[in-house]
Amino acid sequence: MTDPTAAAAQANLKRVRTRHFQSAKQNGVKITGLTSYDQLTASIFDAAGIDFLLVGDSAGNNVLGYDTTLPVSVDELIPLTRAVAGAVSRAFVVADMPFGSYETGADEALHTAFRFMKETNAHAVKLEGGVRSAEQIRRIVSAGIPVMAHIGFTPQSEHGLGGHLIQGRGEGVEQLLADAHAVEDAGAFAVVLEMVPSASAARVTKELRIPTIGVGAGPHVDGQLLVWTDWAGLTTGRIPKFVKQYANLGSVLMEAATAYRSDVADGAYPAPEHEYED
Ligand code: KIV
Repeated sequence: MTDPTAAAAQANLKRVRTRHFQSAKQNGVKITGLTSYDQLTASIFDAAGIDFLLVGDSAGNNVLGYDTTLPVSVDELIPLTRAVAGAVSRAFVVADMPFGSYETGADEALHTAFRFMKETNAHAVKLEGGVRSAEQIRRIVSAGIPVMAHIGFTPQSEHGLGGHLIQGRGEGVEQLLADAHAVEDAGAFAVVLEMVPSASAARVTKELRIPTIGVGAGPHVDGQLLVWTDWAGLTTGRIPKFVKQYANLGSVLMEAATAYRSDVADGAYPAPEHEYED
């Protein structure tokens, strides 16, 4: 249940830190997160009081023109992460470690995490996987870098999982719980639960000391995260069932571009007020 005093204190924070994720869970204050891949949306979301911004490898589908997140590289995410981290004054910025940048072992994972922390000013890194990524999480955390874990549906393993399938259903909840405990024991400060049934997410949230952040995990979690282009109605094509669209920027931009094209064609733009005098 949300405690209004604790919520107000959370909103007035100068800078969100990992300890505020912990106190939010303890006080029943919900944590809000959005993805961001650029300076302008980052500064708007920061001013709106969104607690954390994830520079997700979903940039692959939303910025870089790929079909999946698999081709995304560290070199592609670094400038996006730097732009987001440079634009916020309150929000906590999480850099997503892309596919192929941490799986071979703890040394590779730490090397990638160092790059994000040194080259972008992000405040934490995120990586996918529960039990299978625990060693990597432990090593990164032992170097003083906060890690947000990500379990349930993990898009980087889409082919291994057999598609965009809900995880942690029925007996699958046991694996979800094992993954959740593995990342908590390894030192993650929070864990993203993606596309899992609400009842399974509730069990994980109850059992863990660290906050759970749901992406399609229902209401019984400690916070919510959405991909901003889905949330703002900019994404075309199939939108997951769990997304609530808070705006329709796609049609706003379509209308604006159509009006601009027709003004230029008719000579209505530029008008005298847009001209420089001699
Ligand atoms: O890259 C991303 O946007 C993500 C979220 C969907 C959790 O990993």
